[in-house]
Amino acid sequence: MTYHIVTYGCQMNVHESEKIAAILKEKGYTEEAPIERADIVVFNTCCIRENAENHAFGNIGALKQRKRENKNFLIAVGGCMAQEEGKAELIKEKFPFVDILFGTHNLGELGELIEKKRAQKKRVFSLKEERTETEDGIEPVRTGFPGAFVNIMYGCNNFCSYCIVPYVRGRERSRSAEAIVKEVEGLAQRGFKEITLLGQNVNSYRGEVDFPELLDRVASIEGDFRLRFMTSHPKDFSPALVAVMKKHKKICNLLHLPAQSGSNRILSLMNRHYTREKYLEEIALLKREIPDCEVSTDLIVGFPTETEEDFQETLSLVKEADFSSAFMFIYSPRTGTKAAKMEGQIPEEVAKDRLSRLIEAVNAQTRQKSAKYVGRTAEILCEGFDEKKGMYLGRDEYGRMGYFKSDRDPIGEYVLLHITSANGISLYGEEATNGAV
Ligand code: 5AD
Ligand code: SF4
Repeated sequence: MTYHIVTYGCQMNVHESEKIAAILKEKGYTEEAPIERADIVVFNTCCIRENAENHAFGNIGALKQRKRENKNFLIAVGGCMAQEEGKAELIKEKFPFVDILFGTHNLGELGELIEKKRAQKKRVFSLKEERTETEDGIEPVRTGFPGAFVNIMYGCNNFCSYCIVPYVRGRERSRSAEAIVKEVEGLAQRGFKEITLLGQNVNSYRGEVDFPELLDRVASIEGDFRLRFMTSHPKDFSPALVAVMKKHKKICNLLHLPAQSGSNRILSLMNRHYTREKYLEEIALLKREIPDCEVSTDLIVGFPTETEEDFQETLSLVKEADFSSAFMFIYSPRTGTKAAKMEGQIPEEVAKDRLSRLIEAVNAQTRQKSAKYVGRTAEILCEGFDEKKGMYLGRDEYGRMGYFKSDRDPIGEYVLLHITSANGISLYGEEATNGAV
């Protein structure tokens, strides 16, 4: 029997889909197959913005006919959208052919739910309120070699006024440092070369130690791997974090620090607990200590009451903070959040126009930075082969994608590239030598 998992949303979800794959394998679905042929399709959903939900609805709906023709074919819907208040009811109603519904806190039960469904005609649902345990004992099917994700904490306590995550992921829970170190040691021994520590807000990590100390411990593990972590919150940024980043060569010199807006008035409405000035001071400290460190960010346009002046402050922040790249979004009202009830919701055309101007500004900066690479070398960790381009690809420590041709299979190796041209965030080059860091 075969399976297919459709994943929406963040890296947390990508990693959880690796756990879903492990559960499916245990239940006899031994191989992955295209969605048209799989015996079970699992949707691992996201609800952070409305368009993530609409994509999922569209794709679930498309399976209706198949389900009608083949009663043994199973459809399961899980993840953040399933956990969202009222959405489970909506899914049940709108898609009566969905067999299994499970929330973010019920991933570990998927195996039992499948068995239950096999034994009965009725659909099965499991939406637990909240989970306190931090170890699920599931050995994920790693799909990102040479990269691997490691959860360090779950949930979020911040309640940024626009964000639904605290409602669907529950309160913060940290895994023990011991368990995390053990997992990373195992991955390093198996030859994984890029470890990304995951949490909605990694700086809030509170295990036996705090986050900088955890990072120090993980970076001290033997092996030639790179270490990344995401996501950090500017309100919890600390000099101790910078000191650990500076101490370890393994830790990539890229900090993903979502700013969300450059306007203090908007930041306050967003309940972010920092100012533009504080944010810029943090970056200044980081760059003073680690001059070649780069910063990437997340930015939202069209938050309720955002004026052209507020937006101009976001534009100027892009320059001042010298972001190397950014994820940029139009604000999407999420039911149940504070911001969804605020007056002064921004018309879509205005928000769209701001987004396109912001993308242009960020892209121009990214292009400028990439152009500087031409004629220099970059160390790429080769992670795959691009069929369309006929080239291998990988990232440097700053997250820039490097493409190159090779006669051998260098996937999983560090490759030194002579950069011959640049295009946006992508670099093109020729292999100079190869070797470990
Ligand atoms: N609308 C638009 N973007 C959002 N994000 C979170 N919630 C919303 C929302 N309601 C963005 C933030 C966050 C990223 C993961 O998604 O920028 O950092
Ligand atoms: Fe990830 Fe948040 Fe989307 Fe859930 S709602 S998948 S935590 S981005």
